[in-house]
Amino acid sequence: MFHKIPPQMLKRMQELETLDTVDRVDGIPHLQRLRQIPPETGKFLALMCASAPAGKVIEIGASAGYSAMWLSLACQTRGDRLVTFEVLPEKVELANETFRLAGVDTIVDLVHKDARLALNEYNQVAFCFLDAEKEVYQDCYDKIISNLVRGGLLIADNIISHKEQLAPFVSHAVNDHRIDAVVIPIGKGELVCRKT
Ligand SMILES: C[S@@+](CC[C@H](N)C(=O)[O-])C[C@H]1O[C@@H](n2cnc3c(N)ncnc32)[C@H](O)[C@@H]1O
Repeated sequence: MFHKIPPQMLKRMQELETLDTVDRVDGIPHLQRLRQIPPETGKFLALMCASAPAGKVIEIGASAGYSAMWLSLACQTRGDRLVTFEVLPEKVELANETFRLAGVDTIVDLVHKDARLALNEYNQVAFCFLDAEKEVYQDCYDKIISNLVRGGLLIADNIISHKEQLAPFVSHAVNDHRIDAVVIPIGKGELVCRKT
């Protein structure tokens, strides 16, 4: 996967990495910032997604499509499509541009919707990356876990960067007997949940 990233995708990844770095220091309002995962988290997600069992691949929180590009590499390996949700119109526009430039618009379905209103329609989920506003994590988790296939993975971002705010969510997950869960200290901290 990582040895064959197409040049046009690498170029868009680098553009978004630069934009995201600038975003973090130029005082732009929180919701307008890209708030992307770092590249090492992208690689981690792609490896986990490529290794997940058969089933659907979903992302909640596309922003400009950076993490989705990493997941699209795994989807190409799996022979699957990626469904990614984004609620803000300006981010949808950016993400559409990303998928077109990166050459993955044929395998990525960008859904312009609050994911909570649509997740019930997605059963047989093999992999889900959750990276939205922290207030919606529990709701998205509840909807996804019941639709995960056996051995399916849900990975939630920002577990270390938002440790205090997400503590009740993490505590709920590690005590949920339907899954095994652990926090991995990579990037902003990833909660990896596997359906038993
Ligand atoms: C942290 S950013 C995602 C970054 C992206 N995963 C990446 O690494 O490139 C969170 C995004 O989730 C979107 N979002 C927040 N709540 C959402 C919801 N309920 N449904 C869909 N998108 C949502 C926000 O508009 C924002 O663009």
